[in-house]
Amino acid sequence: MFYDVYNEDCITGMRNHVKDGTVDCIFTDPPYGIEGDKLDVLYHRDESNVVDGYVEVPLETYDQFSKDWITECARCLRPGGSIYIVSGYTNLHHVLNALHGTDLQEVNHIVSKYSFGVSTKKKWVSSHYHILFWQKPDKGKQKRVFNTNVYYSDQKDSYHDRLDVQPMPRDYKPGQIKNKNQLSEDFIEKFILYSSNRGETIMDPFCGGFTTSRTALRFGRTFIGFEMNTNAFRTFLPTLEQVEEKEDPIPIDPSPEELEKRNKMRAGWAKKRAERKLVS
Ligand SMILES: C[S@@+](CC[C@H](N)C(=O)[O-])C[C@H]1O[C@@H](n2cnc3c(N)ncnc32)[C@H](O)[C@@H]1O
Repeated sequence: MFYDVYNEDCITGMRNHVKDGTVDCIFTDPPYGIEGDKLDVLYHRDESNVVDGYVEVPLETYDQFSKDWITECARCLRPGGSIYIVSGYTNLHHVLNALHGTDLQEVNHIVSKYSFGVSTKKKWVSSHYHILFWQKPDKGKQKRVFNTNVYYSDQKDSYHDRLDVQPMPRDYKPGQIKNKNQLSEDFIEKFILYSSNRGETIMDPFCGGFTTSRTALRFGRTFIGFEMNTNAFRTFLPTLEQVEEKEDPIPIDPSPEELEKRNKMRAGWAKKRAERKLVS
């Protein structure tokens, strides 16, 4: 297993340690600029299992911060490389503004629905994150990877798996030490498997609980990452050594009866298309 992780600010860290065009895929969840380091007090959350020292970014500097780290990511990505950025709504415009200032191209806007929004009395309960999926322009043979049959061999099942509204599972691991806003590794897995191949390099500039790194290493990718909070870095770094490598999943086939039904339907559609062509 190969990884390079640094207890540093990711902006200078990327400049110092990552060469141009060497990263295949980035999956990251930056601080949201919403005083995330104080949310537990605001929402009366019990965070006794959460490591101290989460580094938040003040709202006044969030725009420049977003431009700086996203420009670095664009430099590090290879042609055709993919980037996924998880963002809340409040400062989404700064993230989008920064993305539009690079040569990256938009691929999808994914909405991720979670079931644990903070209760409100006089307005809707916010229960989604945005996931911005962009890419570095393809160049010659260096194209964007998108593995559509990771989990399902048949297009119909894969179609449903690829809808741009995705559920966000929550890991319930009582007593286990975690980072603030730690994502589920089951959730990250999907994006890594769809957008990279074994042996390729995944980067996360904001490692937090090292969820992206563990997921990347588990599936035979190499990893490069940064985390500024020394407490989080020291707590989660040892978990990388405990990762057990796994094969990529074997795609699930529809049952033979279901496949026969689908193939009959598809043959019918193909016939209709051919007839329409003849008429026009
Ligand atoms: C939303 S959390 C990431 C959570 C992570 N995805 C997980 O699943 O645990 C953002 C992380 O970025 C770190 N951070 C903030 N500013 C940073 C910077 N300039 N460079 C590196 N890490 C930074 C914070 O300390 C925090 O752990």
